[in-house]
Amino acid sequence: MAVRFLISILIISFVSFTHAFDPNPLQDFCVAVNDAEAKVFVNGKICKDPNTVSADDFLFRGLKIPGNTSNPLGSRITYVTVNEFPGLNTLGVSFVRIDYAPYGVNPPHFHPRAAEFLVVLEGTLYVGFVTTTFDPNVPNKLFTKTLYPGDVFVFPKGLIHFQFNVGKNNAVALAGFSSQYPGIMIIANALFGSNPPINIDVLTKAFQVDANVIKSLQGQF
Ligand SMILES: *[C@@H]1O[C@H](CO)[C@@H](O)[C@H](O)[C@H]1NC(C)=O
Repeated sequence: MAVRFLISILIISFVSFTHAFDPNPLQDFCVAVNDAEAKVFVNGKICKDPNTVSADDFLFRGLKIPGNTSNPLGSRITYVTVNEFPGLNTLGVSFVRIDYAPYGVNPPHFHPRAAEFLVVLEGTLYVGFVTTTFDPNVPNKLFTKTLYPGDVFVFPKGLIHFQFNVGKNNAVALAGFSSQYPGIMIIANALFGSNPPINIDVLTKAFQVDANVIKSLQGQF
């Protein structure tokens, strides 16, 4: 298990580095400082003084801890983006661990800034993504697969995708991203859980359903 975990990390690192979309670094590293208080905006984060950087800045030990899947979706994402791991700043990569209860789902979503490379460690996942609506060759096409431990699937940048645990046991996956902060747009949350809510007339017309259907969906957030 530990060896498989390590191999997965290495594969993810290699693939992600060769396809990084974030700006290329102009220095070896730029370990981020906690810039929550900073008034200046930069595309990325502010660097820690390199003389105070140590090996610990390049270490993250949290990924062995299973996420708590006791929630309505039955899944939990443990993020290892630049926000959790400041050493990733300017390196163009990040990771997540995803835990799935039996029949748990990582609901349809997309990442505006990254392609995703998913490795299944345990369990059986039904995964898929959909191409853009008016793609000239394959409009709105769904690509799906059932994945088993050791299988890898990629989700292209910006396309809606999902994973569903179709097994009777827990499932675990790791995913690498070609961005230090890929961002996540969960479709249901964005449309029915925005703050303030999207005007219900917009949603009833867009989905061509009764207003009560939209109210019921909004009521879940
Ligand atoms: C998991 O989350 C549920 C719901 O929030 C909570 O009741 C439970 O105590 C959590 N379990 C652990 C092990 O943290």
